[in-house]
Formats: sequence, C-alpha cells, structure tokens
Amino acid sequence: MSRRMLSVLTTWAAIAPAVVLSATTYDYIVVGSGPGGGPLASNLARAGFSTLLIEAGGDETQNPTYSDLANFLEACNDEASRWDFWVRHSDNATQDLAFHHTTWDTGGGTFYVGNDPPAGAKLLGIQYPRAGTLGGCAMHNAGVASLAQDEDWNAVVNLTGDTSWEAPNVRKYLKAIEKNEYMPAGNSAHGYNGWLSTFVSDVSWAQAANSTGVRILEKLSTLLNQTSKDPNVLFGGDILGNPPNKDQISSIYNMAYHCDSKGKRSTPADFILSTLSDPAKYPLTLKMRTLVTKVLFNNSTTQPRAIGVEIMEGASLYRADPKHTPGAKGPVSQVFASKEVIISGGTFNSPQILKLSGVGPKAELEALGIKVVKDLPGVGEKLGDNYEASIIGLTKEPIPAGLTTAIWRTPNAATKNRNIYSWCGPFSFEGFWPGFPTDYGANQWECAMVHIGPKSQAGSVRLRTADPQDTPDINFRFFKNHGDTDLAELVEATNILRSSWLAAGDPALPIQELHPCPGEIGKAKCTDAMQAEYFRVQAYSHHATSTCAIGADSDPMAVLDSKFRVRGVQGLRVVDASAWPQVPGAFPVVPTMMLSQKASEDIIAEAKAQQGSHDHAHT
Ligand SMILES: Cc1cc2nc3c(=O)[nH]c(=O)nc-3n(C[C@H](O)[C@H](O)[C@H](O)COP(=O)(O)OP(=O)(O)OC[C@H]3O[C@@H](n4cnc5c(N)ncnc54)[C@H](O)[C@@H]3O)c2cc1C
Ligand SMILES: *[C@@H]1O[C@H](CO)[C@@H](O)[C@H](O)[C@H]1NC(C)=O
Ligand SMILES: *[C@@H]1O[C@H](CO)[C@@H](O)[C@H](O)[C@H]1NC(C)=O
Ligand SMILES: *[C@@H]1O[C@H](CO)[C@@H](O)[C@H](O)[C@H]1NC(C)=O
Ligand SMILES: *[C@@H]1O[C@H](CO)[C@@H](O)[C@H](O)[C@H]1NC(C)=O
Ligand SMILES: *[C@@H]1O[C@H](CO)[C@@H](O)[C@H](O)[C@H]1NC(C)=O
Ligand SMILES: *[C@@H]1O[C@H](CO)[C@@H](O)[C@H](O)[C@H]1NC(C)=O
Repeated sequence: MSRRMLSVLTTWAAIAPAVVLSATTYDYIVVGSGPGGGPLASNLARAGFSTLLIEAGGDETQNPTYSDLANFLEACNDEASRWDFWVRHSDNATQDLAFHHTTWDTGGGTFYVGNDPPAGAKLLGIQYPRAGTLGGCAMHNAGVASLAQDEDWNAVVNLTGDTSWEAPNVRKYLKAIEKNEYMPAGNSAHGYNGWLSTFVSDVSWAQAANSTGVRILEKLSTLLNQTSKDPNVLFGGDILGNPPNKDQISSIYNMAYHCDSKGKRSTPADFILSTLSDPAKYPLTLKMRTLVTKVLFNNSTTQPRAIGVEIMEGASLYRADPKHTPGAKGPVSQVFASKEVIISGGTFNSPQILKLSGVGPKAELEALGIKVVKDLPGVGEKLGDNYEASIIGLTKEPIPAGLTTAIWRTPNAATKNRNIYSWCGPFSFEGFWPGFPTDYGANQWECAMVHIGPKSQAGSVRLRTADPQDTPDINFRFFKNHGDTDLAELVEATNILRSSWLAAGDPALPIQELHPCPGEIGKAKCTDAMQAEYFRVQAYSHHATSTCAIGADSDPMAVLDSKFRVRGVQGLRVVDASAWPQVPGAFPVVPTMMLSQKASEDIIAEAKAQQGSHDHAHT
C-alpha cells in the first residue's frame, strides 16, 4: 500500500466513525423512550413482537433527584438528563432580547441570564429544557396529570374521518394505562391496573378556618361562581373525572400528578423496566446512550420503505447535552426492522430525525445537501404550545397554604370551553432558564397560568445543519395568529386571580406585586393593554407539540395519517407529542401517553390482521 493511500485511509478513519454493519433485525424499532415511545415499545414487546427501543440518554430511575417528584426543580436543572434547546419566541429579535430570561454563554459552562449581558457574552437564546433520558421529559417534568379536551381528540375525526378518535372512545386508553391511587376502586372514569400511578396533592391546609390562604381560596371559588365554601366540596371534584360537559366546568380542583401515593414519580421508564424484567421474557431490547442519526430507506419499493435506522453509540453525543465534549463521536452502525420504524423523539427531535432522513420540505433539505426521499412540507411546522404566564407578589406576612388549582373559563373567552388552568400558592415559577426558579423567600405568592387552546401554531423546527449531533433552529412565533385574543384571555384571568388576593386580609396585605403590574395590589394601576404587552414579551412555555401533525388527506401540510403513518413512505410512523394536530388541553404528558396507548392498539391490531391474512393465505 502506498504511503499516500495509507494517509488517505488514516485521515478517513480520523474523521469518519467506523461503519459496522449489524445483521440484527427486529420486528419494530422505536426511537425515543418518552411518553410517546416508551409505552409503545413496551406494548409491542408484550404483544410478542421483537422490539428494539433506542434511547439517547441513560437510566436515572434510581436517582432520587428524579424518582421523588418533590425534587422536580432539581431534576429540570440536572445535568444527568438535561438537554438545552435555545429557542426563539418570535421573529422579532428586539422583542426576544427583552425577555427577562434570555440567556448568554459566558464561557466555561457559565451563563448570564437577563437583559444586560457582560461584554463578550454570546447570545444563546431562551432556554427550553428537555430530558434526554429513559422515560423522556416525564422524568423531569412537574408531574401534572391533566387530560386533553374532547375537541382535541375530535379534531382528528374532523380532519381524517377516523371515528376511533372520538372523545367518548378514548377514555379507555386512560383506563388501560392508569393505576389510580386517589379514587376508591370501581370508579368508571378510571383504571386501576395500569402502569401509570396517579395521585393528588395534600389539601389539608384548607381545613384551617379563616387563614389568609383559605380566604383567598374562598374568594376565588366565589369568583368562579362556586357556592360551597367547604374545602371538602371545593377540592372534592375529580380533576381527571368524566362528567358531561367536563370542558365547560369552571371549578377549583385538587391537582393530580403522575406519581404514587408516596410521591414517587411514575413514568414510562417504570413500564419499560418492568417489561424487561418480567418473567414472561418479552422480546424487548433496550439500547441506551445511542443517538439515532437517520432512518434508512429501501427505494426499490413503490414508495420508499423504512427498513431500519443508523445509530451512533455513546453518551452525550447530542450537542443539547451540557456534558457533550466538542468533537465527540461514537461508532456508527445500522439496525434493521422487518415491520416498521417508529419515531418518538419528541416535538423537537422527531421532525429533526425525519428531515435528516430526507423526509421534509424539499427546499430546506436540498439547501443542506440532504437527498430528498419524500417532499413533505409540513414536517417541523405547526409548532404550538400552551402560553404560560404568572402573577407574582410578596406578601407582608407569609400565607400558610398549599396549592389552589382551578380550571376555568374567563367570562369573555373567545370559545365556550374553559381556557385557563391556574394554580396559586407560596411558590415562584416564572419560566425556564439555567438555575430557575428565583427564590423570593417565604413571602412569595404566585398564581401560575397555563392558557388552553392557543389560537396560533405558527412555530417551526428547522435544520441548521445536516449534522445529527447539532440541535435544530426552533422558533415558537408566539401570538402570531389571533395573539390579541389569547393575550386578552390571559389578562382577564390575571385580573380575576389578583382580585382574589385582596381577600387575604391581615396579616398578608398589602401584597407588593412584582409583575405583570408592579406595585401594591389594589393601588397600582395598570391598563389591560400594559399587561397584555408584558405577556406578549414575557410569556413562556414547555408543552411543545404538533411538528409532525396528523392531518387530512387533502392537506399538503399533513405529516401523518390518523394511524400515525408518515405520508408518502411505508413502514414509518411518528408516535409522540409532535403528532397532535392541536395542543392537547393544558398539559400534554398524560394525553400523549394515551395517544401512545392508542397507537399501540392500532399498530398491534394491524400487524395481527396482516399475520392473520398471511396465515390464511397459507392454509
Ligand atoms: C420542564 C418541563 C416540565 C413539564 N411539565 C409537565 C407537566 O407537569 N405535565 C405535563 O403534562 N407535561 C409536562 N411537560 C411536557 C411533557 O413532559 C412532554 O410533553 C412529554 O414528555 C412529551 O413526550 P414525548 O414522548 O413526545 O417526548 P419526550 O418526553 O421529549 O421524549 C423523547 C425521548 O426521545 C429521546 N430522543 C430524542 N431524539 C433521539 C435520538 N435522535 N436518538 C435517540 N433518542 C432520542 C429523548 O432522549 C427522550 O427520552 C413538561 C415538559 C418540560 C420540558
Ligand atoms: C419588535 O419588538 C420591539 C420590542 O418589543 C417593539 O418595540 C417593536 O415594535 C417590534 N417590532 C416589530 C416589527 O414588531
Ligand atoms: C368539526 O367540524 C365542524 C364543522 O366544520 C366544526 O363545527 C367543529 O367545531 C369541528 N370540531 C372540532 C373538534 O374541530
Ligand atoms: C376572619 O379573620 C378576620 C381577620 O382576623 C376577621 O376580621 C374575620 O371576622 C374572621 N372571619 C370569620 C368568619 O371568622
Ligand atoms: C360568574 O357569574 C357572574 C354572574 O352570572 C358572571 O358575570 C361571571 O362572568 C361569572 N364568572 C365566571 C368566572 O364565569
Ligand atoms: C434511498 O434514497 C435515499 C435518497 O436518495 C438515499 O439517501 C438512500 O441511500 C437510498 N437507499 C438505498 C438503500 O439505496
Ligand atoms: C428492497 O425492496 C425490494 C423490493 O420489495 C426487495 O426485493 C429487497 O429485498 C429490499 N431490500 C431490503 C434491504 O430490504
């Protein structure tokens, strides 16, 4: 071998990871172990199909930062799982720079958060945390268990004609996954034998007669037109219940969580691990610390057919991971699926993986030199999220209270359904940034709000490079469509919540509001327009959905059909929060687990029907 050729080979070896061809073939490959992929992979294996579940992160289920739900703030900030996406909220750079928690890189793993960065700091953007770990974001989230509105399910029926999505039909998916630990057995709205524990918070604080906290609770219940003042009645309604017109009821509730009665987080990771350790030896293979870099297609078929994925093995290979070492790579190989590849990387990563594989908007792919397998312009578009905002102040004396949760409709809302999920108490939560939240001490008092049913889904996830280790460019374009309507709803909610605070009386009053209307409440004057402008710039979010949305046959922007199949190719589906055509309710995690259960049942039924017709053909 000539010296020149040798040097070419060594150069090649230095830049290109070793390509190892593996002969292993599974029935299904599922990419991502979060609320979308984790339950699906487990269900496929339990149905007897050999399934490979690939997860970029590791297993933190035995780490108390994650397993004890009470530690969720530490979990969100923890480097063991953290994936930092630096996003934009709008196309207006000036507006994003005015966001109070815009973050700058000050070198050596340090950050500056705020509007007056030191010289030389490099703009990162707005932090959007995700969990790259077994169980996905269910491992670091606040654990709030909430349901989609009926119309979020019915919207799929409208778009596709698939009646299996009708709202009355989907309660069975909750019942299949739930292990309810807060309602007496036999309640027909709930399941008791599933893998997902649900529990509620401790509201015994509300039994204290006439405390400042109880006076706020009673006032809020009056403002929501509830007649009883009895805390057992006020907190007695089931927040996950199934009464008629559930989406129109304005009420105080006891917040529910995906945790057990001892406060242990309950997530898809538990279901995956129990599937792996089950004596029945289900054919599930879990491959952690492995980054999927693209889907492999066979182009000899009429439509390109997904036959496997390319993977790069190693921890912290994705650049969202703060533990990533610049230049780090791992060995690259291929794994194959005889039936299907299912992408469940979440709302940012699923469209990224599709695009890296040649499935996405033609111009965007070609500009980066990616060969187009299927021009699918909707991939990465339609990004939507619940707007979140808060009213926070400092009380004269601390208010003794737990959480007062309410789901309600602001009286002048544009739609008939309730549009606000709020929770009030002595805490501080103003969005996400490295090291969040700010601790204002014992006198902090807040009502946090999640706006339900945002009327704009104009955000996008687009490739910045063709490198699978890079993060994509993410812009939410908050409030782009019908923003004034949604902002008016947030302002109306704020004004009602604030007026409940005045009922606290001595010794909590006066309360000094920090935002959106700084000053002593009851005296400080802010117009609705001023508050709306505050929220336009300072709203935040963490429930991103819809970047691989299910849509109508006739809609060129539709990415999936109602069975989660990626349009225009074969053997490929997307099952995770990105599949929702609209943002499901106030909190997406339980809806997405239900969607995963639905996908499991649909895919297994389809496979068994194929097997059946195959067997039939041979008899
Ligand atoms: C800080 C925070 C708090 C939240 N709080 C709540 C809450 O209280 N209640 C609620 O309902 N919702 C909450 N959410 C939202 C909720 O957790 C998510 O909507 C939900 O987890 C989405 O599930 P998913 O399966 O779509 O994606 P994810 O949970 O993001 O899971 C995707 C998985 O895929 C893996 N992955 C991605 N790309 C690759 C790749 N290329 N190769 C291999 N693996 C890959 C990731 O590591 C991850 O494990 C919160 C979210 C955040 C970020
Ligand atoms: C951009 O945002 C800034 C700050 O909020 C605002 O003053 C300006 O009018 C905005 N520009 C456009 C074009 O909307
Ligand atoms: C379904 O379509 C009908 C007719 O266009 C519309 O009135 C209704 O609001 C839609 N429902 C949902 C849930 O989108
Ligand atoms: C509640 O406490 C306040 C302040 O101490 C007092 O003025 C009020 O009379 C009390 N109300 C009841 C119903 O006890
Ligand atoms: C409560 O009822 C009053 C009187 O009907 C009404 O004006 C108000 O809007 C209602 N409040 C809410 C939150 O629905
Ligand atoms: C299928 O086509 C795509 C796009 O041209 C290409 O990247 C891929 O390598 C092809 N697959 C095979 C097996 O040739
Ligand atoms: C690709 O598809 C063709 C046509 O169905 C088939 O003959 C061939 O075996 C497939 N190749 C792979 C690698 O799956």
